[in-house]
Amino acid sequence: MDKPTVDWIKDVVSRQNEWRSSCVNLIASENIMVTELPKFESPELYYNDFMHRYAEGEPYKRYYNGTKYADELEVEAIEYFKKKFDASYADVRPISGAVANIAVFSAMPRITNIVVTNSLPSGGHITHNKMGTMTRLIGRNVYNFPTGENPFTTDVDKAIKLIRKMNPDFVVFGKSMFLFREPVKEIHDAFPDLTIVYDAAHVFGLVYQGVFQQPLKEGANIMTSSTHKTFPGPQGGLIILKNDELGIYEKSIKTQVFPGILSNHHLHRIPALLAAAVILDTELTDYAKRVVSNAKAFAEALYNEGFDVCAADYGFTETHQVVVDVSKLGGGAKVANELEKNGIICNKNSLPWDKSVVKPSGIRLGVQEMTLKGWTKDDFIELAKKFKNILI
Ligand SMILES: Cc1ncc(COP(=O)(O)O)c(C=O)c1O
Repeated sequence: MDKPTVDWIKDVVSRQNEWRSSCVNLIASENIMVTELPKFESPELYYNDFMHRYAEGEPYKRYYNGTKYADELEVEAIEYFKKKFDASYADVRPISGAVANIAVFSAMPRITNIVVTNSLPSGGHITHNKMGTMTRLIGRNVYNFPTGENPFTTDVDKAIKLIRKMNPDFVVFGKSMFLFREPVKEIHDAFPDLTIVYDAAHVFGLVYQGVFQQPLKEGANIMTSSTHKTFPGPQGGLIILKNDELGIYEKSIKTQVFPGILSNHHLHRIPALLAAAVILDTELTDYAKRVVSNAKAFAEALYNEGFDVCAADYGFTETHQVVVDVSKLGGGAKVANELEKNGIICNKNSLPWDKSVVKPSGIRLGVQEMTLKGWTKDDFIELAKKFKNILI
């Protein structure tokens, strides 16, 4: 077919739709929108007139006209998340988790200009770190939390010593390779005045449904997130504030979101975002619980099939993720490619002990999408057998 004609473009889209909907999707940062499930299917919640519009500013204080329905929905979404988390402020305008992080990290005061966060090999995200947003864009100096005996967690005593020594403006918890809870309470207890940002991008669906730690109750001041990983909403971002009685963070973060960073905030996703929250609260109330129990079952099944599943001594996982050391099988890239040839999609991932990020020795598997589609523990036990047939 000639390219790029409109028919060719449509054909690529239809091939993508057919391919990825027939695959076993295990990318831990992805999901489908819950409003795509046959039971809740409502394309108008995402494909709607809002996608053609602008609504710069805040609801009912916009810079353009024509926004009365955008205002109505955005206020409802803000209030919904505020109520859910007993929060003083919620911002649904960031168009992704990274954008939410940029807004927050750049809004914080600069006294020492130092930030302490998780390193990339221990699961931290590029937006928190030196090679990405935090230093490259925002110009802050980054120090990393030391890992504990379980290398997928932070050593709390050493972290306290590091914070005492570096006196950071704020610390960031939350990870991309995220198996166990973060020591939010421990650090808050040790430093009650320290600003804690918790990036819930990966675990937001689990936090939302109360099956993982509750960072804002444990002492975090600010939670940022994506809305499309374990939380099965449209791709987007979110900022939620608590412990901000004086409104200090709210004022500076709000201004960073607009006019600091955004102009258009992709209004068409707001209905699908609010609908996802409502569906999780009313219809799929056990979704997050099923996610975590499926992840544990999958980890155990892979272990029983002979795979080097990480954190075996610590119960494998408390989240949607399972991490496997596949160095003996040729490394993460080789294994992920082999799985893709067999219709299973996952990603290679560095492990805490990898010397370089160039040849990751692990793979990261997320069970949230298949769980949303109805997979049970038995399906994951079968999948573990398939992994063995393909890889060992
Ligand atoms: C911990 C963490 N924060 C932020 C992000 C960025 O989120 P987004 O892709 O929504 O910009 C990711 C992406 O996977 C992430 O893992």
